Amino acid sequence: MKNLPLHVGIIMDGNGRWAKKRIQPRAFGHKAGMNRMISLAEYAQKTGIKYLTLYVLSTENLSRPKEELDGLFGLFRKYFTANVKKLYAQNARIKIIGDKSALPEDIQKLLVDSETNSPEGADFTLIFAINYGGRPEIINAVNRAIERGEKVDEKGFTSLLYTDGIPDPDLIIRTGGELRLSNFLTYQAAYAELYFTDVLFPDFTEAEFDRAIENYSKRERRFGKI
Ligand code: FPP
Repeated sequence: MKNLPLHVGIIMDGNGRWAKKRIQPRAFGHKAGMNRMISLAEYAQKTGIKYLTLYVLSTENLSRPKEELDGLFGLFRKYFTANVKKLYAQNARIKIIGDKSALPEDIQKLLVDSETNSPEGADFTLIFAINYGGRPEIINAVNRAIERGEKVDEKGFTSLLYTDGIPDPDLIIRTGGELRLSNFLTYQAAYAELYFTDVLFPDFTEAEFDRAIENYSKRERRFGKI
């Protein structure tokens, strides 16, 4: 396809409502969301996209009830033990953005290991935003710049963000009907194209993903020029 985005971000919203519609607990929706996420990651790589960032848990989500968080952490454990080897075999690498330090210790280890064991020279990068917030990321970068005692330009500042080395997202998709970015890639999204859909994340199929990519491919990006 012409004008394929290099980097796509997805705000995977609507798991809870999807479960509610089926008179099921929220955890049921998260499990369905995880399965959808696994398929989409594989599909995105096949499509030729090089970077896919998935908003798995925001800094704000960490204040959800313990029961829901425990359920999500259970899914993380399952995912990061069962799926990473398959990803590596497909020549994909994993990167985590966000503050790992507030997560359960065994999960921190799984996340760090999933990054360090990633293959060199992978042709696809799967980025998980976990306990991630754009503002905390920017503040963290500012403090690191102050500690260095040097002024920064855009290039220098970018290298202090969690996304160091990753190109800015070209397209950000949000499922679940809300029209906002919710602290996702706040700095990096300056020139991202945005795509919003009412489809709840567990229903966001490959065909829906294709629709978003096709919509993007027809847009004219001027980056402020004429
Ligand atoms: C938003 O839906 C979704 C989340 C807060 C969690 C996203 C997690 C996954 C898709 C699966 C787990 C991922 C890994 C890496 C194992 P919501 O709960 O806010 O839905 P609602 O707006 O309908 O309530």
